[in-house]
Amino acid sequence: MSEQPITAVYPGSFDPLHLGHVDIVRRATGMFPRVVVAILENTEKQPLLPVSERVRLATESLAGFPGVEVTAFSGLLVDFMRHSRARIIVRGMRAVSDFEYEFQLALMNRRLWDAVDTVMLTPNEAFVYLSSRVIKEIWTLGGDVSGLVPEPVRDALHALRVG
Ligand code: PNS
Repeated sequence: MSEQPITAVYPGSFDPLHLGHVDIVRRATGMFPRVVVAILENTEKQPLLPVSERVRLATESLAGFPGVEVTAFSGLLVDFMRHSRARIIVRGMRAVSDFEYEFQLALMNRRLWDAVDTVMLTPNEAFVYLSSRVIKEIWTLGGDVSGLVPEPVRDALHALRVG
């Protein structure tokens, strides 16, 4: 048996981080002593926020949770996990509509590295309707995202708009 504390990795784009994500992190910290929030540096998509800013905002927003680390990653998730000595992936599952994608991801990651397991957590129902895509759309159209994202993210999005 390994002496290492069990590490779970919560991967995603987090562009931007919203309160549903924070709720999943909170739940994960109740299950695992070390939770690494791994933010994908996606070179294909044009992000709303650069990865360095997403890391900064998540670090600030999640500072109150014990055992949480925030870092960027690129390339295959399983390679990052090997490097981080982690075998557990945490993902949020909001509704049946998430299932197909999450199931595909979980099985593909295990196909790439059979030591890996995915734990799906459901957020509080108050956050089930939240997604980064919807937050982005509200923000792009001039709407108020207060109460949907952590305060540091709200402030950063506000500053982005004001310029
Ligand atoms: O929450 P998101 O933005 O849909 O997260 C998707 C993410 C980052 C978990 C997924 O795209 C990913 O792990 N990308 C890294 C590349 C990879 O490992 N792909 C193979 C698994 S399908």
